[in-house]
Amino acid sequence: MSQKILLLPGDGIGPEVIAEASKLIDVLRLNHGLEVDVTQLDIGGAAYDQSGDPLPEDVLIQARASAGVLLGAVGGPKWDGLERSKRPETALLKLRSALDLYANLRPAILYSELADASTLKTEVVADLDMLIVRELTGGIYFGQPRGIEQREGERVGFNTLVYSESEISRIAHSAFKTAQLRNKRLCSVDKANVLEVSELWREVVEQVALEYPDVELSHMYVDNAAMQLVRNPKQFDVIVTGNMFGDILSDCAAMLTGSIGMLPSASLNLSSQGLYEPVHGSAPDIAGQGKANPLATILSLAMMLRYSLNHADLADKIERAVKQVLKSGLRTPDIAVQGGKSCTTEQMGDAVIQGLD
Ligand code: IPM
Ligand code: MG
Repeated sequence: MSQKILLLPGDGIGPEVIAEASKLIDVLRLNHGLEVDVTQLDIGGAAYDQSGDPLPEDVLIQARASAGVLLGAVGGPKWDGLERSKRPETALLKLRSALDLYANLRPAILYSELADASTLKTEVVADLDMLIVRELTGGIYFGQPRGIEQREGERVGFNTLVYSESEISRIAHSAFKTAQLRNKRLCSVDKANVLEVSELWREVVEQVALEYPDVELSHMYVDNAAMQLVRNPKQFDVIVTGNMFGDILSDCAAMLTGSIGMLPSASLNLSSQGLYEPVHGSAPDIAGQGKANPLATILSLAMMLRYSLNHADLADKIERAVKQVLKSGLRTPDIAVQGGKSCTTEQMGDAVIQGLD
């Protein structure tokens, strides 16, 4: 039986990188036994320009009905001046929340062929392979009350950092299960020396840990974690943390690899439905020029095949092809050596298809 997948190219370089993933899906259907129905819709600024709404109802309906959603990127200067509810970023936050995609998996992998791309010393980052599990539908991003109001003659802005036991417990389970599939080490990051919400976080994570005796659990304060990430990132296997700490630490981890154009991500709900996106943004400065690196999107497709479509075999195939293409020396401008030759978005996508065994 065919599973449904939804493609949301979005803005900036989104359409270019999704086009490469879409070509790859066609080849997997034709030659590798993948059975999927593909729908493609606008989201973000592109949808706003069409309909006045960055997240049209049809996108929500199709997303809910799909096993996996592959998103390019949203946003750009053209829409930055809109009121918050119309902004492309709001569409993304709403989509995450509407599908209850609470578990955000952000791997940071440094391919040995690209070790020079990092700003850190090669020996600090060579062969880095870590994963951040970020809670994505709670915490300070969604906590109530929030707002800006008049108090005693001046304006005050406020947000609420709140986590319930059930929210902490379900993300902890996701993180322990993820660690079980890797090197079985989990570091929970919080600010328990200052925040009550972190005190509860730590307590609940400890409780959940009892069900995963094979995983080694440690705790770290977020400021120290930021420092350790640049000092000795290879000490980490899996990190689990709340929404805002995860937002910050995952950018830091991404940059360790020196090539944000390479990093995929997955956001999953309890029924393994997932939204898959490259970690990079819409990069309006290079949009439409064939300069974008499609590998983060292609690797996001691999994650979709692994986590939502039950096709680890095809995910492995794609990941092997990406490694081979890098080994062959093909480079988009973001990962090319200075003064070296670079290829176009399309050439990179074609090479991955060629490299499928
Ligand atoms: C991310 C982004 C988003 C976030 C923005 C675009 C709302 O920074 O996916 O990390 O903060 O979650
Ligand atoms: Mg971010």
